[in-house]
Amino acid sequence: MKGLILSGGKGTRLRPLTHTSAKQLIPVANKPILFYGLEAMREAEITRVGIIVADTKEEIISHVGDGSAWGLEVTYIDQSEPLGLAHAVLTAEDYLKDDDLFVMYLGDNIIKEGFKSLVDEFLQNRPNAQILLAHVHDPERFGVAELSNGRVVRLIEKPQVPPSGLALVGVYMFDHNIFTAAKSIKPSARGELEITDAIQFLIDEGYVVDPHVINGWWKDTGKLEDLLEANRILLDDLETRIDGSVDERSRIIGKVIVEKEATVVNSTIRGPAIIGEGSIIENAYVGPFTSVYYNSLISHSEIEHSMVLENVKLCNIPVRIEDSLLGKNVEIIKSDAKPKAYRFMLGDNSMVGLV
Ligand code: DAU
Repeated sequence: MKGLILSGGKGTRLRPLTHTSAKQLIPVANKPILFYGLEAMREAEITRVGIIVADTKEEIISHVGDGSAWGLEVTYIDQSEPLGLAHAVLTAEDYLKDDDLFVMYLGDNIIKEGFKSLVDEFLQNRPNAQILLAHVHDPERFGVAELSNGRVVRLIEKPQVPPSGLALVGVYMFDHNIFTAAKSIKPSARGELEITDAIQFLIDEGYVVDPHVINGWWKDTGKLEDLLEANRILLDDLETRIDGSVDERSRIIGKVIVEKEATVVNSTIRGPAIIGEGSIIENAYVGPFTSVYYNSLISHSEIEHSMVLENVKLCNIPVRIEDSLLGKNVEIIKSDAKPKAYRFMLGDNSMVGLV
């Protein structure tokens, strides 16, 4: 069985971050989202993995390399344009076809429990496809399934009036029939070859599509709130580890990781929180559910329930920052320069909330 991870696409809902970077590489609890998928593949004993890439190919390659860090054999597959999930499957057909079965994983999804037991179930029952479903409160954001007597009868992509609260989770298991299905459908109203339509084709043609409703935690990290929630859930799982330096004037409370070469000086860190390699926290407060990635500086400032990416500078901020995502190289610095004024250089679609 092979794996296929989809890391193309445009990530429009996470602009401005995704103007310059792949959304699948945003670090949640200081680990790029994509890495959770790679770990899940390895855990499910799937070692040959194709990764669909597009504009952000080089960045993804620089993070994942040949996959050997995970014990995987990774092959990159170029998708000319983000023409839909079923289009991505067709793009990977040559790579996938020498094996009858594959698991497809959307690179912006995180499934806390991984999917080993689901792959085992698929291999045991050998339906033509197995889909994962989860109960959600906002099904209109997802592909939605309608079940009858435990069987899938209908799948609709982002319906205005959802027939149920069961969303399609971004992990799918298929045999080769999905290629015929993907070739038989037409682009949707949003111009994409939808995987939901391809699976609907399988159902309509009498192929076996098994649904599996998962109860564990799962997230499509498409929006800021989703990322903050994912960060919260995954930080809560961490165990305290202090590999960097913490001076005697600092207080570490609860589950906190201070990575090597990170420095905490005269500050309070209340976990769950993680301070990445080479970051400096001085005369500051880092509150619960905050991750600070590598080489960032938080000085004379307070922050909580936030994600801080690499090389950020946050200095002398008079009001606590919360519910925020600061992209790489962001600087927020209060100075005494006159005239007294706010000075911004913000990317397109940036959001700033002032008090
Ligand atoms: O997260 C679950 C949802 O994922 C499902 O409920 C939906 O049925 C399914 O269509 C999908 O919806 P999204 O709108 O969230 O898909 P998105 O465009 O965000 O793409 C998911 C991943 O696939 C993301 O990592 C980008 C990648 N991708 C996407 C497209 C459209 C590609 O690699 N190529 C593509 O052409």
